[in-house]
Amino acid sequence: MSAIVLVGSQWGDEGKGKITDFLAEKADCVVRYQGGSNAGHTVEVMNQQFKLHLIPSGILYPNTMCIVANGVAVDMGELIKELDELQSQGIDTKNLRISRRAPLVMPYHKRIDSLEDRAANIGTTKRGIGPTYADKINRIGFRIGDLLDSRDYFEPRFAAQVKQKNRIIEEIYGEPGFDYRELLDELMEQVERLRPYIADTSLLIYEAMRNRQKVLFEGAQGTLLDIDHGTYPFVTSSHPIAGGACVGAGVGPTCIDRVLGVAKAYTTRVGEGPFPTELKDAEGDMLQQRGMEFGTTTGRKRRCGWLDAVILRYAVRLNGLTDLAITKLDVLDEFPAVKICTAYKYKGTLIDEFPESIEVLEGCQPVYMELPGWQEDISHITAYDQLPPNARRYLETIYELTGVRQTLISVGPKRSQTIVQEQLFD
Ligand code: IMP
Repeated sequence: MSAIVLVGSQWGDEGKGKITDFLAEKADCVVRYQGGSNAGHTVEVMNQQFKLHLIPSGILYPNTMCIVANGVAVDMGELIKELDELQSQGIDTKNLRISRRAPLVMPYHKRIDSLEDRAANIGTTKRGIGPTYADKINRIGFRIGDLLDSRDYFEPRFAAQVKQKNRIIEEIYGEPGFDYRELLDELMEQVERLRPYIADTSLLIYEAMRNRQKVLFEGAQGTLLDIDHGTYPFVTSSHPIAGGACVGAGVGPTCIDRVLGVAKAYTTRVGEGPFPTELKDAEGDMLQQRGMEFGTTTGRKRRCGWLDAVILRYAVRLNGLTDLAITKLDVLDEFPAVKICTAYKYKGTLIDEFPESIEVLEGCQPVYMELPGWQEDISHITAYDQLPPNARRYLETIYELTGVRQTLISVGPKRSQTIVQEQLFD
């Protein structure tokens, strides 16, 4: 048995898409367990670029089973668009499976997400994620399987929900509501298209594990966007941390062998919320430009800053990381000096654990360690000992600060631009 959970160690956008793709090539089964179309992965394979939001990137391999598990908020319209796009690029999608238990993102969730964010100012992706999970927890949401059961169960409940949501949209926000019949017809048409893919995915994953297949759980977003452990309220509404894989896919914790944290060689964040190492100067602009830091889903410019080891240590603790993949190391190539935040200073006190209070985090100043840059192009390097000494020193410092081995180091977007220290799936 070999099961790996891959998680983002920062605020998302760590380059998980490329690492997932790298591992997906050898995996028998790739599973998405949380989030929804708020996520965005860009994968480059054979000079073709694929943009994926809901479907695991394992879909690019003909023999890999790809699962959208019960923890994923499924927007059927977006999923169908993604299927159409993949098929038009010549990709066979027959190995996709979608959980019957997955909560449905309804058009009213997306509208309410946009309307509520005007006041809450979280800077959400407006993909309806928060309102969908809120309804799930409140037990008034719908699952994809509800559309396959007898209409006697679904229709009256759905009619009541549309009425309720229309009251919020019309009476609180003064905007036009939704037509129940139109929504119902649209949902029924969409579910027919997806019907062949819908399955008991927890059972499929269990069987894959029992057959000693290689299973990769692909986290979306990142540790600091976790609803419980992230920088609340500036978080997403799911559990991107490794523990989320068990609940979101219906597997037990004893099934997981390794947890791979993906960390960018610097730090970025989209949306609002505190970010201690953020750079609002020329160095920040240089990271943004060299790293091409724009959101895959929203196109927003990402905020950029130096690597934060306080965050990485927190990610090690929350996820039980056994391995790290360091990405985008090449983005630092031109800097004469590079910095790593080792602790925070708050009101004159040194803090080396990630604070629980958002107010404290907002007042934290980073304490930096400065290292010499390497100032040469490393994007062609494929072996660790060919890296310039200062690049190795940077990686070794990260190892000393986190205590976690670096299994993969990425020096460019292509699969070939990866230094492999150890094969995770042998
Ligand atoms: P939501 O997930 O759309 O509700 O957005 C909540 C917060 O999570 C916002 O700050 C978003 O920018 C952030 N977020 C959501 N998905 C991603 C992602 O895939 N990468 C980075 N940030 C994300």
